[in-house]
Amino acid sequence: MSETVLLVGGGGREHAIARALAPDCDLYACASNRNPGIAELAEDFETISETAADDIVEYAESVGATLAIVGPESGLAAGVSDALDAAGIYTFGPQEAEARIETDKAFQRRFMHENDIPGNPDFATFDDVEAACDYIDEYDGDLAVKPAGLTGGKGVKVIGDQVTPEEAKAYLRDSDYDRVVLEERLVGEEFTIQAFVANGEFRVSPAVQDHKRAYEGDEGPNTGGMGSYTDVTPSLPFMADGDYDAAVEVIEAVVDAMPDYKGILYGQFMLTNEGPKVIEFNARFGDPEAMNTLPVLETPFLDVLVAAREGESLPELDFAEKATVCKYAVPEGYPTDPEAGAQITVEVDEDSGALLFYASVDARDDGLYTTTSRSFAVVGHAEAISQAEQIAESALADAGDGFHIRHDIGTEALVQRRIDHMAEIRGE
Ligand code: AMP
Ligand code: GLY
Repeated sequence: MSETVLLVGGGGREHAIARALAPDCDLYACASNRNPGIAELAEDFETISETAADDIVEYAESVGATLAIVGPESGLAAGVSDALDAAGIYTFGPQEAEARIETDKAFQRRFMHENDIPGNPDFATFDDVEAACDYIDEYDGDLAVKPAGLTGGKGVKVIGDQVTPEEAKAYLRDSDYDRVVLEERLVGEEFTIQAFVANGEFRVSPAVQDHKRAYEGDEGPNTGGMGSYTDVTPSLPFMADGDYDAAVEVIEAVVDAMPDYKGILYGQFMLTNEGPKVIEFNARFGDPEAMNTLPVLETPFLDVLVAAREGESLPELDFAEKATVCKYAVPEGYPTDPEAGAQITVEVDEDSGALLFYASVDARDDGLYTTTSRSFAVVGHAEAISQAEQIAESALADAGDGFHIRHDIGTEALVQRRIDHMAEIRGE
C-alpha cells in the first residue's frame, strides 16, 4: 500500500525529514513558513502554524494522510500528535504527556530520579525565584540555571562559564520564569544520540556533536545550533570505548520507563570524567543533527514509521559509514541582533558530496531572503570528518553576503581541541 505522510514543520530538520521520506511515499507538508526545499519535495505545502492542532488534523484528513510526523517541539507541546492520533492518523512523535520529557525540564529531572535513570546530575526544582536565589548562595559549586519550559535552547545560563552567581540571580529576578531547575554544572564534551522509538523498542543512530555557541572558538551567546558533525563510526573522536554504549543504556532506561513513547528521543549528553551525564532530552530530531543523521540512513525512514504504526518490530537501521559535517548560514547578528533581508543565492552541486537544506527563508517574487532565524545549512559527507568539512566549505564558498557561518565546525583543529579537552578532563 502506498502511504500518504503529513510532515509538520518547516525548518532545516524538516527539510531533512522530507528528503528521507519523499522517495517512498506521497508527502504533504505544513508549517508557518513556506520552506522551498520541502515544497519542492511535497505534493502540496500548506501554510499552517505548527501549533494549530485542529487545522493540521483538517489538512491531514483532506489529503488522506495515513501517517504523520511532527518535527518541532512547539507542535508536540501543543498536542498535535494527540489530535492526529485521535483522528486515526498515526503520528511518529510523542503525545503531549510524553513530550514533557523535553517541554518541562523539572518533570524531566524528577522522572529520571523516580525511575533511577542513570546519568542524572544533582538537581533541585523551584517555583519561587527567591528560593532559587538562596540555593545559588548556599550551593557548594557551580550550577546551571534553567527555566523549566521551552526556550529554544537559549534560556540556560551556566555559572562559572557564562555568568557569575550574582549575574545568575539577576537573570532570574529580571526574567518572568515561574519555574526553574538548578543543577550541578557538568564539565566535559557534549554529544547527542537520536533514537527511533515505538512500541517499547528503540533503534539508535550515530552520535553527533552540535555547536551551540554563535561564534568561532565556542564564543558568544547560545543559539539553536550552528552546525554539527558525525564520524564514520557511531562514536565520536573524543569518546572512549564504552561511552557510546553507556549513553545508549540511558536511552534504554527512558524507553523502558515510558512504554507509550513514540517518535524520536534525542538524548543530549555531557561526557564527563564519570562518563555520560544527561543535559537534556528532546522529543524530536535535533536541528541541525537531523541533517547529519538522515542523509546517511540507508534503511527507508518510511519503514520505521510503518512498523511503528503496525506495532511491528522496528527495522534494524543501516547507516552509511560516512562522516558528515553540517554548517548553518545564519543572518549577520544572529541570535541577539539578527539582520533579515539578505538575498540567498546559494546553489549546491550534490555530485560534490554536499547537500543543501533550507531553514527559515522569506520567499519573495524576486528570490529568497533571510529572516531573523537560521537561513540554510550545507552538509558535506565523505570518508573522514575533515573531508566532509572541506566539501561543506566549498559548497558555502558562493553563499553570498549577509551571512554568518562558523567556519571552524568540523575542522581538524577543532576536533583535536575536543580530543585534548576530554583527555585533560580524564586526567590523561
Ligand atoms: P539545554 O537547553 O538544556 O540544551 O541547555 C543549553 C546548553 O546549556 C547545553 O547545550 C549546555 O551547553 C549547557 N548546559 C545545560 N545544562 C548544563 C549543565 N548541567 N552543566 C553544564 N552545561 C549545561
Ligand atoms: N540542536 C539542538 C536542538 O535541536 O535542540
